[in-house]
Amino acid sequence: MKYAVTGGFGYSGSAIVQQLLEQGAETITLTNTPRKPDSPSIPAYPLRFDDNLTETLRGVDVLVNTYWVRFNHRNFTHQQAVEHSRILFASARRAGVQRIVHISITNPDEHSPLEYFSGKAQVEQALIASGIPYAILRPAVLFGGNDILINNIAWMLRTLPVFGIFGNGDYRLQPIHVDDLAALVVQYGQSHDNHIINAIGPETFSYRDLVTALTTILGLSRPIIHVPPAAGYAIGWLMGRILGDVTITRDEIEGLMANLLCVDAAPTGTTALTTWATRNADHLGRRYASELARRSFTV
Ligand SMILES: NC(=O)c1ccc[n+]([C@@H]2O[C@H](COP(=O)([O-])OP(=O)(O)OC[C@H]3O[C@@H](n4cnc5c(N)ncnc54)[C@H](OP(=O)(O)O)[C@@H]3O)[C@@H](O)[C@H]2O)c1
Repeated sequence: MKYAVTGGFGYSGSAIVQQLLEQGAETITLTNTPRKPDSPSIPAYPLRFDDNLTETLRGVDVLVNTYWVRFNHRNFTHQQAVEHSRILFASARRAGVQRIVHISITNPDEHSPLEYFSGKAQVEQALIASGIPYAILRPAVLFGGNDILINNIAWMLRTLPVFGIFGNGDYRLQPIHVDDLAALVVQYGQSHDNHIINAIGPETFSYRDLVTALTTILGLSRPIIHVPPAAGYAIGWLMGRILGDVTITRDEIEGLMANLLCVDAAPTGTTALTTWATRNADHLGRRYASELARRSFTV
């Protein structure tokens, strides 16, 4: 079996490639990220949504699609990502790809006012309409490796004298370890049926309890204050200007507070965030992880 993974030198993509290689699968990647010293030594092709895409995908049995953009920016938008995904699926079909494993998000909804979630729903629909057999994996939040969200919460806990949570902090989230997501990709890449799977770990946290748990695990003592979401966004925006990044978006705050990173389903990952964070407490959050720096864009 030959696999093509988008973003094979990126966050979830590199974990997926590693597990595919461990299974002995022939694997290539489509990416615009330069190879790093620790990148897997697999053939890499540009992730360009043009006529060459079909040729690049010819001979591939399974396409693993991680492609998406986290927020709208002058250099990229959710709507462009939807159009690019349509081109990717059409190219895969022309190339004779047998199966697509697609990484989505919990609670995608074409009617959502949040473009992240409505765009993800449009991409899922495009995949289903393509006629290519599929597995759609819907993670809530990823942790482990070089993740952004959990690492940066830890970084802020280490760096700031107080930690502000949006509103009452009661909304919930279900983080999954990136290697557990990769294992699901391998598992469902081998299936022949269509699947839609919530990719969630064994622990469900309220946001407040998550922050409290990380504070304890890091051995810190930080007052947690409740801030109105608009004020939280403004503080996040200001920090983003200082750091040259987008720390959090309005959509992310609204999605989180609307419980969209939580589903009523059995866990499909086995690694507990608290166990992993305890094992990695020494280096978790020591360095800020910048979304824009890894894309070589500025705010
Ligand atoms: N990270 C999370 O906590 C989380 C939570 C829920 C769902 N997800 C979903 O999981 C999937 C993978 O997430 P990830 O964090 O592993 O993503 P990632 O490594 O940052 O990127 C995945 C792919 O998307 C491309 N990409 C990302 N941002 C882009 C941009 N601004 N412009 C052009 N291409 C861009 C990357 O291109 P390059 O190959 O060139 O880098 C890569 O091919 C995504 O579909 C995401 O929506 C992630």
